[in-house]
Amino acid sequence: MQFSKIAQAIQISPIPVFAAQIDKRKKAGERLVNFTVGDFDPAIYPIANELRDEIITAYLEGHTNYPGAAGVEQLRVEISSLLRDKAGVEYDPSAILIASGSRPLILSAYMALVDPGDKVLFPIPSWNNDYYTHLVGATAVLLPTQAKNGFMPTPDVIMPHIKEAALLALCSPLNPTGTVMSAAQTIEICDMVVAENKRRGDKQKPLRIMMDQVYWQLTYGERSMMNPIRVCPEIRDYIIFIDGLSKAYAATGVRVGWGFGPDLLIKKMRAIVAHMGAWAPKAEQVATGRYLAQRQVVVDNLDHFRTRLHQSLGKLYDGFIALKAEGYPVDVIAPEASIYLSVRFDLIGAGKADGSRLETPNEVHKFILEQAKTGILPFSYFGSRDHQNWYRLSVGACSLDDIEYALKKLKASLAQLSFAASSKRR
Ligand SMILES: Cc1ncc(COP(=O)(O)O)c(C=O)c1O
Repeated sequence: MQFSKIAQAIQISPIPVFAAQIDKRKKAGERLVNFTVGDFDPAIYPIANELRDEIITAYLEGHTNYPGAAGVEQLRVEISSLLRDKAGVEYDPSAILIASGSRPLILSAYMALVDPGDKVLFPIPSWNNDYYTHLVGATAVLLPTQAKNGFMPTPDVIMPHIKEAALLALCSPLNPTGTVMSAAQTIEICDMVVAENKRRGDKQKPLRIMMDQVYWQLTYGERSMMNPIRVCPEIRDYIIFIDGLSKAYAATGVRVGWGFGPDLLIKKMRAIVAHMGAWAPKAEQVATGRYLAQRQVVVDNLDHFRTRLHQSLGKLYDGFIALKAEGYPVDVIAPEASIYLSVRFDLIGAGKADGSRLETPNEVHKFILEQAKTGILPFSYFGSRDHQNWYRLSVGACSLDDIEYALKKLKASLAQLSFAASSKRR
């Protein structure tokens, strides 16, 4: 009992551990395709030259002192203007808080809103809300989801828990699925939360939504992310948004994130972030502000980036559709957003060449790694027990060549398996 209860029970995410094992084998010369990391290979997706140059300039100018607790003003002004122009929502620069990536903002939102023992609701699969819930000593209520709803929660699964909940943690576009919450889904959920807070009045802490929208600028085709305030203005008092540079600007290592929400909540989060000292480096903040001010450059870079990601996701999607058409027991959801594709492998029970069978989801993804030389992540890494045949494939660290290679190897590996007549050729 050397540590606090929280530290004794804290777990690290298995995702970087698995990704590191793959990287080690790659460095040793093995050809493996790594779809596991929610990150970018800078050799394939570098940050924009203009952002890189601004960062170097900001250091040369000597922006190496404390950045200030709220974050550099020009950056907050530019984010406010980006939100106005691209998301259609008005947030004053004073309602925006900068931190070293999105994670300290998520933790500070939890710390500002949730007491030990409170209930936090989040849909499954979900990225990291289990860890944040644990860090504040709260109780997680896992909301079941279905593929046909893009793995987004529906009002009927929220309703039974709504009266006791302190926080509803949502993410759209969703990591791990690459799906987007529709305007109709957003309205239904926000209306429920507003109605619940009217019922609570002043007697109980309000129910808040944390909307993690770090992928909102990476949507494809007809899909776009509808900001909840546009469809339900009354939710504004109860919603905190998490956003940042990491994903939409391929800048996970630059560490600039921002949150925006009600003034008082932002002030509390600012104090928490300040005590952690989890500010983004000042030079990066100055540079990001100057970069975002070059609006047309930013728009062009984002378009180019999005086109490339969509091309990769599309190639992977088409590959799985072809495998499905050939009768292999796989399925896939068309890419809507982000860098992720949801793929289903119904391989449990399949017979291997050595006469044994694939018995568990773990054996399936090990088989895919060893035989198809392809690293994929089961939804169980995102807390899901119900969707054991679903996997997240991330294209951020893969070239088009890698994708082609992986599809070829996957097909050859699936061809080695024998399937019961009912599972193949469905
Ligand atoms: C949904 C979601 N939110 C937040 C983050 C963390 O972002 P950052 O690197 O800015 O801390 C990630 C990273 O994978 C993510 O997928």
